[in-house]
Order: sequence, then C-alpha cells, then structure tokens
Amino acid sequence: MTVITCIDDLKRLHKRRAPKMFFDYCESGSWTEQTFRENTSDFDKLRLRQRVAVDMTNRSTTSQLIGEDVSMPVALAPVGITGMQHYDGEILAAKAAEKFGVPFTLSTMSICSIEDVAAHTKSPFWFQLYTMKDEDYLRRLIERAKAAKCSALVITLDLQILGQRHKDLKNGLSAPPKLTLASMIDLAFRWRWGMGMLSTKRRTFGNIIGHVDNIKDPSSLSAWTAEQFDPALDWKKVERIKEMWGGKVILKGILDAEDAKMAAKVGADAIIVSNHGGRQLDGAISSIRALPSIVEAVGDQVEIHLDSGIRSGQDVLKAVAMGAKGTMIGRAYIYGLGAMGQQGVTKALEVIRNELDVSMALCGKRDIKDVGRDILLVPEDFEGRWQAS
Ligand code: FNR
Repeated sequence: MTVITCIDDLKRLHKRRAPKMFFDYCESGSWTEQTFRENTSDFDKLRLRQRVAVDMTNRSTTSQLIGEDVSMPVALAPVGITGMQHYDGEILAAKAAEKFGVPFTLSTMSICSIEDVAAHTKSPFWFQLYTMKDEDYLRRLIERAKAAKCSALVITLDLQILGQRHKDLKNGLSAPPKLTLASMIDLAFRWRWGMGMLSTKRRTFGNIIGHVDNIKDPSSLSAWTAEQFDPALDWKKVERIKEMWGGKVILKGILDAEDAKMAAKVGADAIIVSNHGGRQLDGAISSIRALPSIVEAVGDQVEIHLDSGIRSGQDVLKAVAMGAKGTMIGRAYIYGLGAMGQQGVTKALEVIRNELDVSMALCGKRDIKDVGRDILLVPEDFEGRWQAS
C-alpha cells in the first residue's frame, strides 16, 4: 500500500488508475503548455521567510470566502467531466468538500447533474456557468442552479472558444470513451475504473443530455463547445446573467488589471485570477505573477481569489500572502479523485491543509487571516519588466 504524503503521490496513482484519455485531459495545457508549466514554476520563485521563537500554539487556517465559513481558504474548482476520472466523481468530490468544510464548484460540463449533486449533499455548492448561445437553455440552467440552492454562480469568462490541447485531439477525447482498438487496450488495464463505471448510470454530460435538443455529437466536449458556447459574450451579457441569477456572483478567468476593474464595476462579489490552469491562452502569464497588479487595481473593491498552479499548501500560503483572500484547486483534487475516489479528494485536502498549517507556523504566523506580504521574499523582477504598450 502506497503511503500518500503529497499531491504528486496522488497524481502517480491517478495516472495508473484512470484511462489515459482522461488523465491526459487533466494533465494538459494548450499548445506548447508554456503557461501550464509556468503556473507551477512561478510559485517556486517565491520564497518564504523563516521566523523563529514565535509562539505556534492555537493555530487557525479558518477563513471566509464570499461570506461563507471555510476550514481553509481553498475551494474545489469547476472541472469538466470529473465523473469520467472516477465513477460519480462530482458527487464524491462534493461530499469530500462538504465534510472538509470547503466549497465545491460544479462545472456546467459535469457528468453528474446539478440536481444529482444537490440530492447527495446538504451544504450548498457553487455552480459554474459557461455562457451558451441558446438563451432559453442558459435561463433554464440558471433556474436549475437556483432551485438546487447553489450559493454562488461562478461565471467563466476565459472560455468562449476552446484553446487547443493536442493530447485531447490525439486521444479522441469523449465521454463516455469511444471504443477503438487503442482505447480498448488501455481500458483493459483499468479494471477498477471500468467496474466503477459499470456500477453507475452517470456516464455522460448530466446538465446537458435531456435538456437540449439537436446535439450532433453529445459525447464530444470540443464539438459541444464549438456549437453551444457563446463567442459573443461581453460585459453587457455578464451584467444580464448577474441580474438573472440575483445572488452572489464570482467572475472566473481574470488575468489583467483592466478586466479586473470591469469585473469590479459590474459588481462581482469575487473574481478568480486564473488562466484556466494554462488550458486556454498559451503564452499568457501565470496567475501568481498576475496577482499583484490585480490586487493593486481592485483589492479594495472586490474579493480576490486565485487558481492555476496550486499543488501544495505552500502555494496556497504564497497566494494568500500575495493578497488573495482565497484559492481554488483543480488538478490537485482531481489527482486524488482519480487515485482513490472520495477518499483521495479528502486526502488531497488533508495534504494541503497540513502543508499550509505547518508552513504558516514556520513563517511565524498562527492565523491565516494575519498572513501578508511580510512572510514572502519576492524576486525584484517577479512581475516581469514589460515594455509599455
Ligand atoms: C478545468 N477548468 C475548468 N474551468 C471551468 O470554469 N469549467 C470547467 O468545466 C473546467 N474544466 C476543467 C477541466 C480540467 C481537467 C481542468 C484541469 C481544469 C479550469 C479549473 O476550474 C481551474 O481554473 C484550473 O484547474 C486551475 O488550475 P490547476 O489548479 O488545475 O493548476
């Protein structure tokens, strides 16, 4: 039995247990994957200031995200086709998050439906919305999230069109997987995954199938995105969706101070500084590098969260020290899910909380709410010296 000590251990198990097509879908960025790589390597450039002889008793990682109490400032990010990494993936991840006291965000492109996740959890979760061309469907989706008592709508702004990920094209990504010689050989080695899938009825897009007509190829994520997502999305539409929803709104995918100002202007409750985990515009800067300029621009107007590249509690600590009130993890919990289902997501959260707690203490802080820039050593050129445009 493997002893799990870090997120990388979960990643290795995920790779072994999930079909190649789905592990690759998780572990990829767009085009050259430069942004995907830099999301993590830029965290490594920041150093922590070790302090000593400071009372470390009674520590706390508890905080609040958009007014909700959390056991640590981490939420589970929306991740499409999570229910293909492990059977009933979204339900299991939502349950793990609920028990741990952190928010779970359900993707529009989930396998388990909004209603299904609501039926298996007690705490409200967040719902992530991709804006569709079909206004009627969009409205119904929002109504369904309201009926399920979702406590926030996370509107993703950085995927009106899909960034190309080479591996998905080469693997012929689909949910459920199409049976080709290559996929059948691969599946033969993933018996645990296959048995799980046979035990559930949740095997394709739960928020979509049965709710929309005329889909040419319902199993294909890329075909779906091209057909349905609204490339004409603009700030006016964001305002309209915000009105339709009427509750708390989090705008996801902000990487530029000018866009952050627009997000604050439309009255977002929070923004997520994100480049979609390096899956959209390859060549964009890492989220952690973009964070300081965004904090400076709107830090006093809107709550700022960050995702993309977080693989440890130290990364969470660094993001908070740089001015983020909260963080989201994507791959870090998906590795756990693909490795060991609900237990694996819990393990990922435990690993991150432990690393966060110990690192915070060794920096001389007892409360995450007191963590600030003073615990960090930031290279002078961290944000990059770019020519004025
Ligand atoms: C995503 N992400 C994402 N975001 C979103 O708003 N809706 C979605 O359906 C998806 N789907 C998705 C699938 C997979 C496999 C990944 C890895 C990511 C982006 C996600 O919410 C988040 O921004 C990133 O995962 C953050 O980066 P890390 O933590 O994975 O490095």
